[in-house]
Amino acid sequence: MKLSVIGCGYLGAVHASCMADLGHEVVGIDVDAAKVAQLNAGEPPFHEPGLGEVLRRALDSGRLRFSTDMADAASARVHFVGVGTPQQQGSYAADLTYVDAAIDALVPHLHAGSDGPAVVAGKSTVPVGTAARLAEKIGDAGVLAWNPEFLREGFAVQDTVAPDRLVYGLPGDDAKAAVARDALDAVYASILERGTPRLTADYASAELVKVAANSFLATKISFINAMAEMCEVTGADVSFLAEAIGHDDRIGKKFLKAGIGFGGGCLPKDIRAFMARAGELGAEQSLTFLREVDSINLRRRQHVVNLTVHALEGRVPGKPVAVLGAAFKPHSDDIRDSPALDVASRLSGLGAKVRIVDPAAGPVLRRVRPDLDVRDSAHDAVAGAHVVLLLTEWPEFRDLDPVELGESVEHRTIIDGRNVLDSAAWRAAGWTYIGLGRP
Ligand code: UGA
Repeated sequence: MKLSVIGCGYLGAVHASCMADLGHEVVGIDVDAAKVAQLNAGEPPFHEPGLGEVLRRALDSGRLRFSTDMADAASARVHFVGVGTPQQQGSYAADLTYVDAAIDALVPHLHAGSDGPAVVAGKSTVPVGTAARLAEKIGDAGVLAWNPEFLREGFAVQDTVAPDRLVYGLPGDDAKAAVARDALDAVYASILERGTPRLTADYASAELVKVAANSFLATKISFINAMAEMCEVTGADVSFLAEAIGHDDRIGKKFLKAGIGFGGGCLPKDIRAFMARAGELGAEQSLTFLREVDSINLRRRQHVVNLTVHALEGRVPGKPVAVLGAAFKPHSDDIRDSPALDVASRLSGLGAKVRIVDPAAGPVLRRVRPDLDVRDSAHDAVAGAHVVLLLTEWPEFRDLDPVELGESVEHRTIIDGRNVLDSAAWRAAGWTYIGLGRP
């Protein structure tokens, strides 16, 4: 099928590449000419395991290209919209400027083909009610479906070609709903053949599935981080607690890793946008618990700052502090709302000489945070450090040898912000090991 993907960020670049790899003819559209040139040259504009291979394979097949010109999308049957919906400046609400601009630019290029009207499939995470509004805008030029995306950064390719489920939000009109459903079924035919659950609903339900899923995940993380706070005042161990409650199938072990909490371009802004939307709908009370989820999450960052200040005996200015990790999670170079970077920034603000290192986010950090002292290796970052903070659990940081590392620091104090190090091994090597929610 001929497809277009509008917006070639973390979502769109992966979706376009994977759809072309599945056999479709795809054009990716983005307003950023530099990004389009990079993608056409087979270079992913961000770190995502496996994307480079899929992108180059798809380009080599001749089925994939990228363009800044929306007119190049005109011949596509299905148009996926995957532009960003960041948090608005000074508000919790989502900024829908890019979604509206994409739809406005696309509508004049929508044409019915021999196989039926053009289908627009929204993938961006939007406040409930957006799809109905956009459908009005599109009018009779095409049919809108809402097809939320559940990919995780770091596993984006795998999540796109082998998702847990496909969700279609369809128009109320039965004929239009059938057009949209059949078109999406054709796009995802090879995925559906493997028995992937495909759920259809109205627009609002499909929009809510996405924010409900992210809210649940955020709540799970803040729940275990609240338990970490309880462990800290009782001397209990949150890692043991998570394992023990996780044996209950109804609870499960996933997303119960206590630490410095969640960040990234999705979970934090999605729960805030959800609260803002609930307020607009007069249902604020239903989501007030998400305020607490957000507060617990942000508290953990300050807790790590406090632990660091304590480790430095209150004398922070001028003290070398090593920060291992800047990305919001390993296997990504995404620093949007990164807890690691936030902690590093807060310590730098207190006057510490922060040296930060990240296996993937180094180049982006140097570009957008020239104020930070970015190092190329963990050994370089920790040399002479009075305290070391592990804030993103990259395998190369987990595997560091405490004996070897101990030789280059000034004081052997490590704060394990992700509870991933073997505390016994670090203590045996003479380190003061400080975990979160652990004795
Ligand atoms: C999240 C969701 O997991 C995806 O399903 C969703 O599609 C995506 O947002 C999105 O809306 O686009 P992602 O932002 O890639 O995916 O990251 P996650 O793997 O969910 O991790 C989010 C944060 O939670 C990270 O900072 C991670 O370190 C933290 N986390 C995760 C914990 O602190 N503890 C855990 O147990 C798990």
